[in-house]
Amino acid sequence: MSVKKIKENVHFVGVIDWDRKIFDNLIPLPDGTSYNAYIIKGSEKTVLIDTVDPAKKDILFENLEKLKVEKIDYIIANHAEQDHSGSIPFVLEKYPEATVVCTPKCKTFLVDFGLVTEDKVKTIEDRENISLGDKTLEFIYTPWVHWPETMVTYLKEDKILFSCDFFGSHIASSDFFVKDEAKIISDAKRYYAEIMMPFRGIVSKNIEKIEQYDIDIIAPSHGLMYDKPSMIIDAYKDWVSGKVKNEVVIPYISMHGSTAKMVDHLVNALIDRGITVKRFDLATVDIGQLAMALVDAATLVLATPTVLAGPHPMAVYAAYLANALRPKLKYASVIGSFNWGGRTVDIIKNTIPNLKVELIEPVLIKGYPKRANFQALDKLADEILTKHKEAGLI
Ligand code: FEO
Repeated sequence: MSVKKIKENVHFVGVIDWDRKIFDNLIPLPDGTSYNAYIIKGSEKTVLIDTVDPAKKDILFENLEKLKVEKIDYIIANHAEQDHSGSIPFVLEKYPEATVVCTPKCKTFLVDFGLVTEDKVKTIEDRENISLGDKTLEFIYTPWVHWPETMVTYLKEDKILFSCDFFGSHIASSDFFVKDEAKIISDAKRYYAEIMMPFRGIVSKNIEKIEQYDIDIIAPSHGLMYDKPSMIIDAYKDWVSGKVKNEVVIPYISMHGSTAKMVDHLVNALIDRGITVKRFDLATVDIGQLAMALVDAATLVLATPTVLAGPHPMAVYAAYLANALRPKLKYASVIGSFNWGGRTVDIIKNTIPNLKVELIEPVLIKGYPKRANFQALDKLADEILTKHKEAGLI
């Protein structure tokens, strides 16, 4: 049970999920997560902002009981994804007088998921207001943070922005509010990389939109609340900007050590040239760490042996992931070892059409690397250095 007063008649009633290890059976959660829901008691109406993952609905109800919530007039669904909306049917069962408030697109999704019937939903326009008596909610359309139907909700009198996934982070913590800023920026960056980065153009427009509001607290639906909103807003502005850093990300996989030896050499050659390197063994990688590294990097070098005439499947996975996440990379290359041939480079090139990168000449070698191969890797490092200098990164 976890209830926390935020302001007068505004409470956190969400669930801290200390034990969850993976999200969407894809995203590792090294620090767990939380599903934040909030109760606002106005002088006339009571509102629940988002619900929780249905697996944890009992805790939500314990929290509501602790606060003696006898009536809910509106359930605000900022986002249709089930970790926030999956408990709506159970809330409606207990509070049958409640109306679900959301965007028209969200209504379609909720009905498609079987979470509501159309008659239980009130759709709102962008920037529409609802009065709770002495408190007022304004709904702001913010599409693609994380799905196309997403919106945020602004509580005017208390200057709280309920942002759902926007500005969220996967962390289970008893702090409720950010205390360790460096840690939460790292957690939020991981979250941004996995969830928001593919839509950074529109995320940038949404930041401009919410900056028109006077905000004291950002209350997302995952992780901690921000009582210094500029901290996370400034971090987001940096991540969505077109700026890249003097960094090379090297995801690699090796079968008998040849490709790993090439990676060792290239990493040292780049370090010697003053370039930051982030290296990930795809056999054991935490893809959240890899996604985070892609937020700022200028260059991606994918290292793979040739297996069955193409790249190792783990390298294809990394390329596919990078393509889906659409980081702001400017350059890419491929290195690796083969024995009797294949279409490794072509297959990787065809896997990353979304990446608007210049391809730097790959280094594919036969067998274990030899002196001439190391020289080719030094040339690749020189080429990357030249590109980074030309781009003004050094
Ligand atoms: Fe936390 Fe996109 O749901």
